[in-house]
Amino acid sequence: MAKLKVAVLISGRGSNLQVLIAACAAPAFPAEIKLVIASRADAAGLAYAAEAGIATAIIPHRDYRSREAFDAALTAALERASIDLVCLAGFMRLLTPAFVARWRDRLVNIHPSLLPAFPGLDTHARALAAGVRFTGCTVHFVRAEMDSGPIIVQAAVPVLPGDDAEQLAARVLAAEHQAYPLALRLIGEGRVRVAGERVEIIGADRAAFPSLLNPSG
Ligand code: GRF
Repeated sequence: MAKLKVAVLISGRGSNLQVLIAACAAPAFPAEIKLVIASRADAAGLAYAAEAGIATAIIPHRDYRSREAFDAALTAALERASIDLVCLAGFMRLLTPAFVARWRDRLVNIHPSLLPAFPGLDTHARALAAGVRFTGCTVHFVRAEMDSGPIIVQAAVPVLPGDDAEQLAARVLAAEHQAYPLALRLIGEGRVRVAGERVEIIGADRAAFPSLLNPSG
């Protein structure tokens, strides 16, 4: 079967891009990254794309007089590369409703919380302030409202005594690095279906999970 043609959009560090590149390097992986787009020329993650020989485009939002013009430039670059799926990975721009509609169910994002808890910024500090015992990350299809849309994969991590936001962020980031490649594989395998704004995973493991307790005793 033809591999899914993927673009990854970044603004910074690019550690999720790095793990997606590594996953796609496996011959049997059902997706390939055809294009990396950065909204800033100094996005560190661009180096991972260059190392892997992936085409890159820098589309600085400051070059465009409106969000609509910027998003139209994004769509033009994505269409030129015949992209099937767009993965946002630390892309720090709000996308217009028109862009989100154009790529409906073909645009995914990773967010560092268990949505719908803690949309927006500073998720780890907010999780600590709320006193939740678990947090994690969510890979979801993008809808017009920020950090919303049908959930594909979530990974949960415990909040531990004495955690600060940085320690929690590192634990969640490790979970992100498992969740995003899994979501991409499921989509590439054609096993992800959106029905009534919820995601159905075809052939998902129905084995019972034990409860995770925190504290554990
Ligand atoms: C991640 O925490 C992701 O969940 C959020 O932005 C961060 C990007 O990190 N959307 P990186 O650039 O992939 O290292």
